[in-house]
Amino acid sequence: MSQQIQISSPVGDKLDWDCQELKEKFPRSKDDIAVPIPDRKDCLLLIDGKVIKSSQNASEVQTPIVTQDKPDEHITIGNFEMASKDQALGALQAAQRAYGYGRGAWAKMSLTERCKSMEAFADGLEKMADEVAQLLMWEIAKSDKDAHSEVTRTVAYIRTAIKEAEALSESESAWQEEKGILCQIRHLPVGVVLASSPFNYPLNEAYTTFIPALLMGNSIILRAPRNGATPHFPTLELFAKHFPAGTIQVLTGSGREVMGALIETGKIDAVAFIGTASSAKGLLQNAPNPQRLRVMYEGEAKDAAILLPDADLDVAVEACVSGMTSFNGQRCTAVKMIWVHQSQAKDFLGKLSEAIDGLKLGMPWEEGVKLTPLCEDTKPGYIKELIEDALTKGAHIVNKTGGKCFKTLCGLTILAPANKDMRIWSEEQFGPVTPVAIYDDIQQPIQYVSESEYGLQCSVYGYEKQTLGTVVDALAYHVGRLNINSPDQRGPDIFPFTGRGNSALGILNATEGLKFFSVPTMVATKNDDERNVKALKALNSQDGGCRVLYGAK
Ligand code: G3H
Repeated sequence: MSQQIQISSPVGDKLDWDCQELKEKFPRSKDDIAVPIPDRKDCLLLIDGKVIKSSQNASEVQTPIVTQDKPDEHITIGNFEMASKDQALGALQAAQRAYGYGRGAWAKMSLTERCKSMEAFADGLEKMADEVAQLLMWEIAKSDKDAHSEVTRTVAYIRTAIKEAEALSESESAWQEEKGILCQIRHLPVGVVLASSPFNYPLNEAYTTFIPALLMGNSIILRAPRNGATPHFPTLELFAKHFPAGTIQVLTGSGREVMGALIETGKIDAVAFIGTASSAKGLLQNAPNPQRLRVMYEGEAKDAAILLPDADLDVAVEACVSGMTSFNGQRCTAVKMIWVHQSQAKDFLGKLSEAIDGLKLGMPWEEGVKLTPLCEDTKPGYIKELIEDALTKGAHIVNKTGGKCFKTLCGLTILAPANKDMRIWSEEQFGPVTPVAIYDDIQQPIQYVSESEYGLQCSVYGYEKQTLGTVVDALAYHVGRLNINSPDQRGPDIFPFTGRGNSALGILNATEGLKFFSVPTMVATKNDDERNVKALKALNSQDGGCRVLYGAK
């Protein structure tokens, strides 16, 4: 690793975790807040078609927003229930009853009817976009703009999933004939699907998995994340209105308690888990029949941005800034490591620092805000530990707003030069700190990505064919997507979103979700007997009495 570059720190490599300048970014008092503060007193769950007010084990929903006059008090916006094991099991019974071995109202409904209910649901969700976005903004401090995008993206996703489901059903209406066998293949539901979402996309990433599952006729149990429960509350009546009782249950509370209790029963047919690798491992190892549990998993990542010697620094800086700062770096696709060639290192660090230092820090409702408070209690402390560790191992804080934090609001810290002894080299920071490694041989970043536990995406900046080709050829075997001169991202949502290693198992998009949460089931016969052909084809007519072959449309 090249260590030739002299790096000086504009903050003298000092941390200020009680930064008064950042304190002033918080409202002076509650009265100073110009936007309405939600007050969702009732803890809500959805079980068996009923929206239940349950407060056996209520907990306050604390936002990451504090005020200057009471910096130790987080503003609360209501309550949520830490659902019990019994409630989880009650939800499971309701889901099983609703599914009824495939004979329940939703499972046996034609796809056309299911799509109609789903369209009505999407219209309803669209109408409540402001209310849901407001709760997202307050509970996880996602900027108002990004909170609205999360809702509109979700509505668009539902509509895409409906179209994809109709196309799948249409394509399956054709008869297939091969080696004397005549058949139709229909994707039928797997049963009860347990879905969960992470705090950074509490709404969207839940819907990404359970909407295709629902469209295929499964019954759903959704566990909303601990940070990000309230945005689901307004949707519960909407689910109750548009879907038969028991088709979808929504629980809040501890993942270990709620999901753990459900997985241990062995009665969950598929799990969609989006979160950390360690929690997935902890939960899934308790499945009594892991061999028949379908698991869609999306986990951690350590996406690298690699700047080749001929990278256009302005292009790379713009993309890296968006990748590092979008929702404070709390995205699986955030840039979590940057590799720059030593020939451009000094210029790049200068331009990157200037761009980061020019960003607006503040409250999520402010126009143009880029960095907002962090909603995980332990995150500011963790970020501090990573910075301190890197400083003792040879890194410097290279930007003026780096190393600063007040309570939950932290400036983004750029650390350089990074080396393999530092924790931040391999740990997923999921927050506002980014290491920059300086290389002289392209094999160094290639090796870094190849040996990583993670393999989500990688962005490569540069144009020269030979080097670009070498990097793409090497890294395409280690990540799910390579972005050339453009930032990492999940969307557009029609494309397959997947990865390798601890980053993903399965593909997150509507097209693949429809297939993942269903079984391609054949109804077949030998076609050398005319009676067989006649009997089978009769099932595919309106009066044939066969729901699977005719009524599935
Ligand atoms: O946090 C992981 C998300 O799937 C990233 O999605 O790239 O659209 O922000 P995004």
